[in-house]
This record gives sequence, structure tokens and C-alpha cells, in this order.
Amino acid sequence: MHTGMLHTHVLSVTLFLIIYLVKAYYLLTDRKKELGKFSKWTKIPEMVISFIFLATGVYLTTQVEKIETWLIVKIIVVLASIPLAIVGIKKENKAAMAASVGLLLYAFGVAESKSLTFTKPAFENVVTDPQSPSYDAMKHGAAIYQVNCERCHGVDGNAGLQGAPDLTKSQMSFEQKAMIITLGKSVMPSYQNMLSKPGEIAAVTTFVESLKK
Ligand code: HEC
Repeated sequence: MHTGMLHTHVLSVTLFLIIYLVKAYYLLTDRKKELGKFSKWTKIPEMVISFIFLATGVYLTTQVEKIETWLIVKIIVVLASIPLAIVGIKKENKAAMAASVGLLLYAFGVAESKSLTFTKPAFENVVTDPQSPSYDAMKHGAAIYQVNCERCHGVDGNAGLQGAPDLTKSQMSFEQKAMIITLGKSVMPSYQNMLSKPGEIAAVTTFVESLKK
């Protein structure tokens, strides 16, 4: 629904970062003349871009249903990088400039991955209670699969590591699959203890069925 606004935000952030990185590059490599020229040349566009970037950012923040940790960290990091960048450019202070570049790039990574460590937790926003009205066995199963099965069967089911068969070509029925997942076989471990909560085996079996080509 706010995709237009979101695209505008991402575009303005990207443009802002490009201008900013060029400036940081000139400053850090002692190219003061080029820095002066470039700053003069980008002055007006930069003002417009930063305004759009901040305005769309503020608007989007007011629209999110739940403010998550990564978003708070992203905002704090972006805000912290601004005074550093100003000191960096105005006082030609390399350490401040390098620190602000680092902070902005980190914020960009956080925003892209929605994670402080750039990794998506498998169970983020996944409803795991089969009784819940918003329960989706496929999503639950995908998360279980990512955590437990990917290391042998791979993301798409056909990695074949440690002698694992290609799940996209499995001829087994739902029940047979559920059985092998529950009891394990040869190298494949048994999951009856690990996936003992209601619906877990069924959910991951549902996901495995969806891998079939
Ligand atoms: C340590 C590696 C490993 C892990 C982890 C693993 N598997 Fe397996 N999987 C195998 C191997 C090896 C086989 C073949 C077993 C045999 O037939 O001897 C297999 C067989 C299967 C089969 C039967 C496919 C067929 O048609 O023969 C299914 C379904 C399956 N795995 C699903 C899963 C699911 C779901 C998970 C996670 C909950 C999982 N596996 C985790 C190695 C693994």
C-alpha cells in the first residue's frame, strides 16, 4: 500500500549514499579540490534528495504497525551518523567521516535484511500454533525446514549433501515422508524428539511436498 513511498525512500537513500560515498572517498584520499568541486555541484540535488529521504522516512515510520528493534536501531544509527558526517565534511576530519560512512552502511544493511546481524531468523513472524487463526502450515514448515533440513537437503531440496535424496523427485506419499522424518533413516536423524510439538512434523512434511517438481 505504501510501496510508492517506499520506493521513493529507497531511491532517495541510494542516491544520497552515492553522493555521500563519493564525498567520503575524496575526503579520505585527500582530494580536497575534487571534494570542493563535487560538493558545489551536488549541493542543490543533495538538499532535495536529503529532504525526500528524511520526509519519506518519517512518513514510513509513522505507518508501520509494529516498531521492531532493527527499525529503532536503524533510525538511531542514521541519526548518529549525521553529526559525524557534518564534522567530517566541515572540519575535514577523516576519522569522523569514516565513522559516519561505517554507521550509514551498517544502517543500510540492517534495513535491507531487517536484522542487526544481517541474518533473518527463520521463525521471525511465523505463527507456530496450529490452533491460531493465522496459522499457515507452509510457512511454519518452511521455517522448520530451514533450521533442521537445509544442511543436507539444501534450500530447494535437491542439494543431496551427506547422501540425502533429491526431495523434488521423491516418490513417497505424505505419510511415508512424515514417517521417515519422524523416525529417521541411516544418516538422516530422527526428529520425533526435536519436532514433538503438535503440527511440527505435519508442517515440515507439507513444506517438503511443495518442493516436488
Ligand atoms: C544429516 C543429513 C540430513 C538431514 C539433516 C535431514 N535429512 Fe532427510 N534424508 C537424509 C538422507 C541421507 C536420506 C536418505 C535416507 C535413506 O533412505 O537411507 C533422507 C531422506 C529424506 C526423505 C525421504 C525422501 C525419499 O523420497 O527417499 C525425506 C522426505 C526427508 N529426508 C526429509 C527431511 C526433512 C523434512 C528434514 C528436516 C526435518 C531432513 N530430511 C533432514 C539426510 C538428511
